[in-house]
Amino acid sequence: MKDILRQKLGIHVEVMDLLNKQIADEALASASYLAMASWCDQNSLKGSAEVLYKQSEEEREHQMKIFHFINDNGGTAYSPEIKNITHDFGSLQEVFETALEQEIAVTQSIHNLVKKSRKVEDYRTENFLQWFVTEQMEEEKKMRDILDLFDLMGGSPLSIKLIDERILKLSAE
Ligand code: FEO
Repeated sequence: MKDILRQKLGIHVEVMDLLNKQIADEALASASYLAMASWCDQNSLKGSAEVLYKQSEEEREHQMKIFHFINDNGGTAYSPEIKNITHDFGSLQEVFETALEQEIAVTQSIHNLVKKSRKVEDYRTENFLQWFVTEQMEEEKKMRDILDLFDLMGGSPLSIKLIDERILKLSAE
């Protein structure tokens, strides 16, 4: 990057690279939730499908929040390529286990970004990321609460139907 462009950047260039990686992670999460929603739809799990379609949209919003932040600060946000989406799941429980794993990975990369921003004294980005730190805490909690339902109610076909209804109520709370 040319020096003059570097000076116009309101954020640290290495942090910008990590933010672009985060855009790709959020886009992957959005695409992945969409695939999960589709699996639930096909398996007549309408409550879970509704929650996961909504979750996919939220991840897209996270992606765009970072996208605009980079561009608003004189940087270049890149539209990511999305590959390797899982479309097949063995059970509804597996869907939400995958969702929790995905959220934990996103939390780790957000924390990594906060750490890097602090290290290079990019306080603007550090401040911007605080919203994501809180959001990740809430998203992990949501997935853990859903997974608790499987422990409580078991995996019989009737239980799965009841869990599916409960998931919709839980995420509306
Ligand atoms: Fe935006 Fe759920 O990570």
